[in-house]
Amino acid sequence: MNRTAPVCKLGHVQMTTPDLDSSLHFFRDLVGLDVIGEDGDKVYLRAWNEIDHHSLVLREGATGIDHFGLRASSAEHLTALAGDLRAHGVEVEEVAAGSELGQGDAIRFTSPQGHPWEVYWEMEKGRQDSNLLNQRGKAYLRGSSPMHLDHINIACVDVASGEAFLADRLGFLRREYVQPTDGPVVASWMSVTSQIHDIAIAMDPPPSLKDGRLHHISYIHQDRSDVLRAGEIMRDAGVTIDLAPGKHGISQAFFFYVKDPGSGHRVELFAGGMHVFDTDWEPVRWDETNIETGMVWVGPDFLPGSGGPMDPTTPCTPVGEEVPAAAGIEAGVA
Ligand SMILES: [Fe+2]
Ligand SMILES: [Fe+2]
Repeated sequence: MNRTAPVCKLGHVQMTTPDLDSSLHFFRDLVGLDVIGEDGDKVYLRAWNEIDHHSLVLREGATGIDHFGLRASSAEHLTALAGDLRAHGVEVEEVAAGSELGQGDAIRFTSPQGHPWEVYWEMEKGRQDSNLLNQRGKAYLRGSSPMHLDHINIACVDVASGEAFLADRLGFLRREYVQPTDGPVVASWMSVTSQIHDIAIAMDPPPSLKDGRLHHISYIHQDRSDVLRAGEIMRDAGVTIDLAPGKHGISQAFFFYVKDPGSGHRVELFAGGMHVFDTDWEPVRWDETNIETGMVWVGPDFLPGSGGPMDPTTPCTPVGEEVPAAAGIEAGVA
């Protein structure tokens, strides 16, 4: 945990979908999030063990991401972060309290890698629906019923520059990374919390090879059996399955990847994952000699950049407004 970081956690994702009804059916009825409010063209959802007002906002529009919401470590950190970003040439937009349900004053900015970020401090607590005093929502009402939003995995061309932005401006610490011998960093797992990752960055695989892409968002479940049950729920609903359940070596996550049928955004239904409690944690390096173990410890084989089902990524900005591909950089882990 980085207690001096400007931000303290990943709070929410606001995504756009060309088929709001379909995305709402997926996230509400199959994943099992609770609809917590509506505001104009936006629908707000929350998982059952989340304290914040919401972790997902859906808005109708071409497939994209309005923003990834990070909570500041304090009101003072939020002010200081705005100044620091501007001092480093990042354009910062101020967003008034109330423009998003439950959320106080916020700033929004786009990273040099083309990802849209929002940082806020004040966030209303979700209403108390559970009779369990330390839990806001009722568990296991529908679908796979994850506990909370866990992490996002974003894609860009130059992973090292993406890491540098998250580390230098926002305080994220590198926990694990993939760097082939004599090659560039091609993937990184970073956090400000004790989780092994709050954000992962991966090189955007061909054919897109672009900045400003999303690989997936991830909701964590209490137990692996929830993820296995999710497999049956998704299969029976005809949802596109990217990768059947298995366990990553890197992060030790138990994974199951599907696609939101409305937006095409990839969603990881997740359990487990490591935590880091020591301040002298040495980032774990994976390379071409062990990457297959790193990607999958148990389960289906896949390697990013090899043209498999996990390769295509979705844009954060709608098609036509994307950041152009950087020339001369080849993707691939090994
Ligand atoms: Fe937000
Ligand atoms: Fe993930």
